[in-house]
Amino acid sequence: MGGYLNDAEHDILLGPEAIQARVRELGEAISRDYAGREVFLVCVLKGAWVFLADLARSLTVPAFVDFMAMSSYGNATQTSGLVQIIKDLEQSIEGRHVIIVEDIVDSGLTLRYLVDMLKTRRPASLKVCVLLDKPARRVSQVPLDYVGFEIPDAFVVGYGLDYAGRYRHVPYIFILKPEVHPT
Ligand code: PRP
Repeated sequence: MGGYLNDAEHDILLGPEAIQARVRELGEAISRDYAGREVFLVCVLKGAWVFLADLARSLTVPAFVDFMAMSSYGNATQTSGLVQIIKDLEQSIEGRHVIIVEDIVDSGLTLRYLVDMLKTRRPASLKVCVLLDKPARRVSQVPLDYVGFEIPDAFVVGYGLDYAGRYRHVPYIFILKPEVHPT
């Protein structure tokens, strides 16, 4: 699994086959649950773009895709709880069946803010699909409707998740060792 980092920097948590298989399962579950309806996928940039691309292509129901960008204040590996919209959706979600697509839920503060804010826009329904659930550091409880994997309290990158903008393109998820990301 080389080619991206030195072996010493690797500690693979989820390989590409495991991720692809689970994303397909999530796509099948969503397609079953929303049979006969169109879903409105809200991709939360930047981390969710890789997951969104695979998830959307595994759906058999019609899908509309729009993007939001949020910024949470804090250092590179911890959120502070203050969330700001950097880029809003371009389309109205009123009366639509909305699914928020996130790469990871950590403290839950970003998702809490997003769910509360999108509810005020009167969607027909609102659910959350997250690839990685890291419950150890949860501060704000948000119901997660579709979860790919529950993961331990470690700093993970790859498959959309970054460290200082790097590793998002890596097709698997690995734990970045503390000596590689001093905080
Ligand atoms: C990550 C992730 C979530 C948020 C989760 O985004 O994509 O949006 O953190 O953390 P929380 O549950 O503690 O709020 P990040 O701020 O790293 O931005 P990025 O997606 O642009 O990399």
